[in-house]
Amino acid sequence: MIIAVDGPTASGKGTIAKALAAHYGLPHLDTGLLYRAVGRQVQLAGGDPDHADDALAATDFAETLLADPELRSEATGGLASRVSVHPAVRAALLERQRAFAGQPGGAVLDGRDIGSVIVPEAQVKLFVTASVEARAERRFREMQSAGRAVTLEEIAADITRRDARDAGRDAAPLIAVADAHVLDTSTMSPQEAISAAIAVVEDCRPQA
Ligand code: DC
Repeated sequence: MIIAVDGPTASGKGTIAKALAAHYGLPHLDTGLLYRAVGRQVQLAGGDPDHADDALAATDFAETLLADPELRSEATGGLASRVSVHPAVRAALLERQRAFAGQPGGAVLDGRDIGSVIVPEAQVKLFVTASVEARAERRFREMQSAGRAVTLEEIAADITRRDARDAGRDAAPLIAVADAHVLDTSTMSPQEAISAAIAVVEDCRPQA
C-alpha cells in the first residue's frame, strides 16, 4: 500500500506520516528533506538558490548531508522552498522518490506533490492542513523550547511567505488533488490527528 501525505509546512504531515509508517510497518520518506539537502548544498557551495543551474548542481549532494542537523532549521526550510521552484531540480529528485514508493509492500511518502506528481496511483492520499495561526503557534512553541529567539509574528510571516511560494509556483505546486482526503489539524492534538489519519487509511485500504 502506498500512502501519500501532502500539506503545507508545520501542518503535522511529518508526524502523521511517521506514525502511519510505524502503524502499518511501512518505510517512510520525508521528501522535504531532499529539497532541504539541495538548499543546504547550494549554500555550502556558495551558490544562489534562485539560480536554476546552481540549484540543479546541488541535487548531487552527498548522502551524508541528509544527517546534517542544520537541515531541520527554518533557514534551510526557506532555502529548500526556493530551490524547489526550479523544474530541473524537481525532475532530478523524481526518480529517487518514485523508486522509494515502488518498494515491494509499499511506502509512506510526505511532501507537497506526492499525490499529484510522484505517485498519483497511491491507494491513500491525505492532504494535511491547518490554519496559519495554529501552525505558527506550533512552530513557535518548538522554537521556544529549543531556546531560539523568534516572535510569533515572524514565524507567521515566514509560514505565509512559504505557503505562497509552495502553492504559487508553476512546477508541481502544493494542491489538494480531487481524490485526496483533507485533514484539518488546527484543533487536533497530535494523537487525534494520527487517529483521524489511520481512520482514513482504514477506509481506503484495499481489502485483503
Ligand atoms: O516539508 P518541508 O518543510 O521539509 O519542505 C521544505 C521545502 O521543500 C518546502 O517549502 C517546499 C519543498 N518541497 C517540495 O517542493 N516538494 C516536496 N515534495 C517536499 C518539499
